[in-house]
Amino acid sequence: MNKQEQTHFGFEQVAEAEKAQRVAQVFDSVAQRYDLMNDLMSGGMHRLWKAFTIARSGVRAGSRVLDVAGGTGDLALAFARKVGKDGQAWLTDINNAMLTHGRDRLCDKGYLLPVAQCDAEKLPFPDDYFDCVTVAFGLRNMTHKDAALVEMRRVLRPGGCVLVLEFSQVWKPLAPIYDFYSFKVIPRIGEMITHDAASYRYLAESIRVHPDQEALKKMMERAGLEKVEYFNLTLGVVALHRGFKF
Ligand SMILES: C[S@@+](CC[C@H](N)C(=O)[O-])C[C@H]1O[C@@H](n2cnc3c(N)ncnc32)[C@H](O)[C@@H]1O
Repeated sequence: MNKQEQTHFGFEQVAEAEKAQRVAQVFDSVAQRYDLMNDLMSGGMHRLWKAFTIARSGVRAGSRVLDVAGGTGDLALAFARKVGKDGQAWLTDINNAMLTHGRDRLCDKGYLLPVAQCDAEKLPFPDDYFDCVTVAFGLRNMTHKDAALVEMRRVLRPGGCVLVLEFSQVWKPLAPIYDFYSFKVIPRIGEMITHDAASYRYLAESIRVHPDQEALKKMMERAGLEKVEYFNLTLGVVALHRGFKF
């Protein structure tokens, strides 16, 4: 097999075609307990990281926003509240279990959002359409991250921004504790709550093979985004990258 057709699935090298299937298995398995696990693993911090993302988005009443790999809909819901009835907040994801769970959850809260099941690498939206495109904790799972970033830029209107919220490279002195927590503690919590330690081992591994802050910044620039900057959150456990289309 040609080496170019290989990619990471956590620490494993797998065929590119296999990665999407393995990622799908992870999210099929964890969808029902995904929100509870997020709160438990991050001690509720993911809510602050997402609030920071929304604060940096520039989204306001009437804006059109696309949340890519939106899963159970945290960002899409927050954006729906901001854009109001004259705007649009789209919830999209490749995974039916995550998307269905997200759509039902948002319905229960009184929000009926436009929803689309789609691959970030081939977005079913016109060029120059959205004021803001977001992806939170999704890019890491994509097979062709460059292609996904190019697509996100394509559907963005000139002047709009792409926001990428993702695990990143933690401040070095914190690394030993962080490694212990992510490789020893998180899979155990995953086993207790979802009966699936392997999916949470994949989470820890996929973070380690994801581009660090500077590498992701360059990747976004290669995708044609400009004025790219990033904000380290919780000592680099997570970083928010923002880039504009002009
Ligand atoms: C960790 S969850 C993040 C969900 C949500 N954005 C959040 O912050 O809670 C990652 C999501 O990425 C989705 N995903 C993975 N590969 C994708 C792709 N190629 N296109 C769209 N979504 C994808 C998964 O189905 C999953 O719902």
